[in-house]
Amino acid sequence: MAHPPLKNNNLIRALLCQPVDRTPIWLMRQAGRYLPEYRALRERVGSFVTLMKTPDYATEVTLQPLQRFDLDAAIVFFDILTIPDAMGLGLYFVEGEGPKFMHPVRDEKSIDRLSLPPQESLSYVYDTVTQCRHELGGKVPLIGFSGSPWTLACYMVEGEGSRDFHIVKKMLYKNPEILQRLLKLNSQAVVQHLNQQIEAGAQAVMIFDTWGGMLNHSAYREFSLQHITYVIENLKRQHDGQQIPSIVFTKGGGQWLQDMAKCGANALGLDWMTDLGSARQIVGDQVALQGNLDPAVLLASNSQIKDEADRIMTSFGKTADGSGYVFNLGHGISKDTEVEAVEALVEAVHQFRFPTGSSI
Ligand code: CP3
Repeated sequence: MAHPPLKNNNLIRALLCQPVDRTPIWLMRQAGRYLPEYRALRERVGSFVTLMKTPDYATEVTLQPLQRFDLDAAIVFFDILTIPDAMGLGLYFVEGEGPKFMHPVRDEKSIDRLSLPPQESLSYVYDTVTQCRHELGGKVPLIGFSGSPWTLACYMVEGEGSRDFHIVKKMLYKNPEILQRLLKLNSQAVVQHLNQQIEAGAQAVMIFDTWGGMLNHSAYREFSLQHITYVIENLKRQHDGQQIPSIVFTKGGGQWLQDMAKCGANALGLDWMTDLGSARQIVGDQVALQGNLDPAVLLASNSQIKDEADRIMTSFGKTADGSGYVFNLGHGISKDTEVEAVEALVEAVHQFRFPTGSSI
């Protein structure tokens, strides 16, 4: 079935460094617990896993933030940990403790036993993508995503989130070739997963490398960036006659932008520890940039939110209202954020204009 053309194409255009008519904005984790309607549905359904595995619910959650705010993109609702779950690791959530796996993979034998997820094990994601795309009706583009091979491996080996990730880091130093086997498998799974999302209707894709920044520079290149580069090289760059731009976000990757800009992605996501203006100087016109408001700013007053948003866009430079820039947070939105704060932010970003006569 043919999809209607996009009414608001600013996200795709900005990612491809083409002119836009306003700075596009979307927010990492824009569908989630800060929204009362999310909390209500989540309570009714009972569990996060059921919510994301049921396309009707996941579609409803994906569209919730679009009904409230004038955002320039939707991001499909599921979780990065669906891939390891589909490999048989058994994802579950303990209230207040975050995600966990029933069967972490901590030795050579369990890593060698793993294989690519069977297609049908992730069909709920692709069904949700198609349903979201259909229900969006061309209002804004739909973003698909995956965790990076390294970030997935962190959870697969540790079995849960961690303060220092010592189990996976020990493997990295003591048994690098075993970890590399896992990363290669993850890379293939990520390629398959993102390409399936593209075929199902995703119009841009993002790779979340949440834990890349805890590596040293050479380990980052070898254990994270190398595999991200493989993934990008193997992505479908076009679908249905449209280009599918890609975004890579390594939290804590601000020191490695030069390397990251060469991974083949169209855009890099930045956390708030990185100065946007300096980042732009470093990457030049090789890639677009996305970011990077500290999510904690959304806990402050509306005027402080506007000041910070203006400061960020000014630091990007004149083309913030032209091209190559997507406004976002530097990490996921906090569950303590008030809905009014998001309204204030979206308005501030869309109203921002450079003072006339300025020549940044
Ligand atoms: O951005 C979106 O709105 C799309 C949905 C999305 C979720 N998780 C839903 C979710 C996306 C893109 C993610 C990515 C994700 N998940 C990452 C990478 C980005 C990041 O934030 O670093 C990571 C590391 C995960 C793993 C994960 N899933 C964690 C650590 C948690 C617990 C988070 C917490 O704040 O407690 C989850 C659960 C999760 N994924 C929730 C949501 C809305 C909260 C679930 C709930 O309790 O209802």
